[in-house]
Amino acid sequence: KIIILDFGSQYTQLIARRVRELNVYCEIHPYNHLPDFDESVKGVILSGSPYSVRQADAPEVDFRALQTRFPLLGVCYGAQYIAQHSGGEVVASTIREYGRANLHFVDHTNVLLADIPADSQVWMSHGDTISAIPSDFEVIASTDKVNVAAYHVRGSQTYGIQFHPEVTHSTDGTTLLKNFVIDICGCTPSWTADAFVETTVATLKEKLGNDHVIMALSGGVDSTVAAVLLHQAIGKHLHCIFVDHGLLRKNEYEQVLESYQHMGLNIKGVNAKDRFYQKLAGVSEPEQKRKIIGAAFIDEFDEAAHAVQAELPEGAAVKWLGQGTIYPDVIESISVKGPSATIKSHHNVGGLPDFMKLKVVEPLNTLFKDEVRRVGKALGVAPNILGRHPFPGPGLAIRILGEITAEKVRILQEADDIYIRNLRESGWYDRVWQAGTIFLPVQSVGVMGDERTYEHVVALRAVGSLDGMTADWIHLPYELLAKISNEIINHVKGINRVVYDISSKPPATIEWE
Ligand code: XMP
Repeated sequence: KIIILDFGSQYTQLIARRVRELNVYCEIHPYNHLPDFDESVKGVILSGSPYSVRQADAPEVDFRALQTRFPLLGVCYGAQYIAQHSGGEVVASTIREYGRANLHFVDHTNVLLADIPADSQVWMSHGDTISAIPSDFEVIASTDKVNVAAYHVRGSQTYGIQFHPEVTHSTDGTTLLKNFVIDICGCTPSWTADAFVETTVATLKEKLGNDHVIMALSGGVDSTVAAVLLHQAIGKHLHCIFVDHGLLRKNEYEQVLESYQHMGLNIKGVNAKDRFYQKLAGVSEPEQKRKIIGAAFIDEFDEAAHAVQAELPEGAAVKWLGQGTIYPDVIESISVKGPSATIKSHHNVGGLPDFMKLKVVEPLNTLFKDEVRRVGKALGVAPNILGRHPFPGPGLAIRILGEITAEKVRILQEADDIYIRNLRESGWYDRVWQAGTIFLPVQSVGVMGDERTYEHVVALRAVGSLDGMTADWIHLPYELLAKISNEIINHVKGINRVVYDISSKPPATIEWE
């Protein structure tokens, strides 16, 4: 595997993804929290950073200890750090070194740059620049403005690059990473979805033995794929619980439950609609709704878990809680910057409380979202589950602004169903990262026939995004919007107006609450 030491760059996760796209396993660790460097480690990458190596409080790492044991690639800050601490010089750049640039010198005899065209486009993003290199360093690539675009330390396997190979604007970045990871570090490209399934199932079998595991499923990709992996490892010893809080999409509870049964999962559905509606009655403050739903969910899960336990044979006990945590959640919680400020409390991300003294098993905690999908595919999970848009834990509760009633849920479900069906039929569903319908807390005037109406408004939202952190609204065709609006107003009693949300995140958020 490859270890990526993170100095806090926004691109660090991207480096990891690119390495994994080469079918090589890699892990991100904060620079100040070094992992075990055992023999499975074949090379180390030092990431970029928002810091400058010239700052007094710049992050430090003992790269010399690594340099003697592993091939080392410094990217941006990483490259500047190695250069400066080897006797070179890094200064504040006087010219603009952001964005596109083209190499004009490339040393093709150097393995790192094999097969990289002489004029390859690279992406720069730094305020500092390496102005002088020690005598044992050689420049192996330059642009017009940046002499030391890439260097090699003679007689060693240490390299530095001042551009970002991980972003797609660096057109040959993947080739460069492949040269490093495969040719220099000697990794074999054997980390595939099938290999992941095989080793994970074997590890889970060993770890869990005859133990029983309990797990809440949401119908989403992560929890489903995690459950299928666990199911392959321990079969009926995995007990799944799917709670209907009455805030799912139209018919979703029934459909998803059926898919789970079809997959052979040991699943128990809990119809808790009325209890959730009751607890939510009269509440309109968004954070309070989330808290109520979070607490109610735990109550339901707790009860179902105790029922599972009660049915187990003498001597058997539930010892584990299965979770669909994925790698970005893990990185977030251990990152250099620490967990980023909570803008909304995502109750279901933090997991469940430690009741019943359960140990946690998270089979997907080393995977990125797209890898979870690939693993799901390798496991034969149905495409309609794998391709599903993200859906918030509190569901339609945060898409009904203001107080929630069963009637509003019904109206919203009908409108949303029309919206999503039209996205699917027009082929737009898979081009959108997330879409949903929002029930607004206003009524507006309309006419139907000769009658004046005074009814509700729904907003349609569709965004493109990679991870939900930033997002832009999707330019759906007017004809499609017209068709959806028409269908909603004509078929959903209680709605006489449809609007389309054209705000990006930031400054707006994806959800309205
Ligand atoms: P925002 O609205 O913060 O949403 O731009 C970013 C992503 O997070 C989802 N989201 C939630 N997910 N519980 C969840 O599980 C929540 O309370 C919650 N709030 C927002 C949202 O759907 C989007 O994918």
